[in-house]
Amino acid sequence: MGTQGDILIVIHGPGLGRDVPTGDVFMDRVRETDPAFAARIRFHETGSPAPDLSGVSLVAFWLGDPLKEKYPACFADAAGIAKAAREAGIRVLNNPEALSNTTKTRQSAIWYQERLPSARARNVNRPSDLEQVCKELGGTCIVRSDVEHAQRDVTIIRKEADARRAARECAFPVAVIQLYDIRAEYRAAGANPSSLFTRYHHKARAFVFGDAVMPSHLFFAPDLVVGLSNCLLKREARPRRRVGHQLGYHRKLLGDMIREDLAYFDSDPLYARTLAQGVRALGLDFAAVDYSIRPDGSVIMWEANPYFYLPRGEQSVLSAERNAVERVNQSLDWMAANLRAAAAGAQNVPDLMRAS
Ligand SMILES: Nc1ncnc2c1ncn2[C@@H]1O[C@H](COP(=O)(O)OP(=O)(O)O)[C@@H](O)[C@H]1O
Ligand SMILES: [Mg+2]
Repeated sequence: MGTQGDILIVIHGPGLGRDVPTGDVFMDRVRETDPAFAARIRFHETGSPAPDLSGVSLVAFWLGDPLKEKYPACFADAAGIAKAAREAGIRVLNNPEALSNTTKTRQSAIWYQERLPSARARNVNRPSDLEQVCKELGGTCIVRSDVEHAQRDVTIIRKEADARRAARECAFPVAVIQLYDIRAEYRAAGANPSSLFTRYHHKARAFVFGDAVMPSHLFFAPDLVVGLSNCLLKREARPRRRVGHQLGYHRKLLGDMIREDLAYFDSDPLYARTLAQGVRALGLDFAAVDYSIRPDGSVIMWEANPYFYLPRGEQSVLSAERNAVERVNQSLDWMAANLRAAAAGAQNVPDLMRAS
């Protein structure tokens, strides 16, 4: 069973990939809460000689995605390590091959095939094909890179003229993704007009580890494409806004947003299974899933991030109001518990969500 075996986490060597703080935040917490477990975790950097796998009971790949497309050298290293691990009968988490299933179009094809709720996407190589593909995907689309994250260079197509302009201005190839306006769905369903879901666009994020799901955050924004940089929590965290809140401006909005986000963190949603199926369908063992909640309570998944950004709770937006330190610690403890269970050979990681 190798219960007390080591855990090898494969990370990018210096300068070989994008760096996210998550690993350091995680390790600091594990060192504090379970030093014996921390001592069993080793790191291997891509670009260095193949690791010694003796005494290892689990290999986890913590590498930027889509791996093959963005970091081919790291992919080659990682694939070699995964092969050696499999041959030695060592369990692998987030197989390097699966780390390439997160291009926008491949992810969409897999989820569509598995009948998981998501947007259809197509790869378009030639500007002259763009207008037709947009039409085939329903006329309203998102045009963006197939491989980049973090909402970079996203173009929204609502009419033919937008498609023609995108054909002239975008760098091809592009991914064209069917657009779903979830806020419009709330409005059409006659949802309460004062609800944040009716007034703004939203996106939720949850961590998935095997069958276990843990909510992370719920953001609202005036724009369709919601991310940390444009969400209202970020706007309301600006110093001038904070002065405004003391004078009463946007205080209700701030309070409502924080309440929704806190309630989301404490929720145990019925759709958790869908998120877990989404991650598993991509061949992944853990990921942070971005999605939206529809007026009927079901979800539509936007993406799975196997290499996710998680800052320290102190650095979270509106940290104190959102109880972020405690929340991030709970998330890290949950991840550590899942990793520990996986290293002990548990096939079905128990739902350790709120064991405490
Ligand atoms: N098909 C879609 N229809 C409507 N909004 C979308 C769609 N796909 C993504 N979004 C919005 O864009 C945001 C960013 O998209 P996402 O797929 O998470 O990519 P990334 O975070 O890598 O840029 C999502 O959080 C969501 O708000
Ligand atoms: Mg995202």
